[in-house]
Amino acid sequence: MQGKTLLDVIKERRSIRAFKVTPISINILKDIIDCARLAPTARNLQPWTFVVITEEKTIKKIAEATDYGKFLAQAPCCILVFCEDTKYYLEDGSAATENILLAAKAYGIGSCWIAGDKKPYVKKISEIVNAPENQKLVSIIALGYPDEQPCPPKKSLDEVIRWEHW
Ligand SMILES: Cc1cc2nc3c(=O)[nH]c(=O)nc-3n(C[C@H](O)[C@H](O)[C@H](O)COP(=O)(O)O)c2cc1C
Repeated sequence: MQGKTLLDVIKERRSIRAFKVTPISINILKDIIDCARLAPTARNLQPWTFVVITEEKTIKKIAEATDYGKFLAQAPCCILVFCEDTKYYLEDGSAATENILLAAKAYGIGSCWIAGDKKPYVKKISEIVNAPENQKLVSIIALGYPDEQPCPPKKSLDEVIRWEHW
């Protein structure tokens, strides 16, 4: 992915749900989390903790607990984005999540955001990793080198942009 600009990374990122078995190096994972922790947060509270999981057994347990995230079982890495229960925890955790997806893409790593917050399985997954009770599970992220090149339809620029008024 070297030579790609940030704009290329943003425009070319797509959710990846099929992964090669190749593991991701610890240094890359650390740098991805470094990008996550620099996301903007309301009042600069930085309410997050990122749980990085590479143990196959734990990843499979988390995958099994989800509804539309079963494919996570085949991923070599999973990141859980937790936030303290602050007023803007969801926005803050979502900003960090997007940074993770983009940083991963910059390293040529595929990812998929799997719903956390609002899902009935958050308690179960929080328990699997021993998260404290006051922590909100904002998102579950599957990570791995891509084994597919999906091209989901996107609304055109003209459909979504308005100038000066609606
Ligand atoms: C809040 C949120 C929750 C999501 N939850 C899931 C999920 O549970 N399972 C899944 O396969 N994809 C999930 N996705 C990924 C979306 O399906 C995907 O982003 C969308 O289809 C657009 O495709 P793209 O990411 O390739 O642009 C989620 C995305 C967001 C932002």
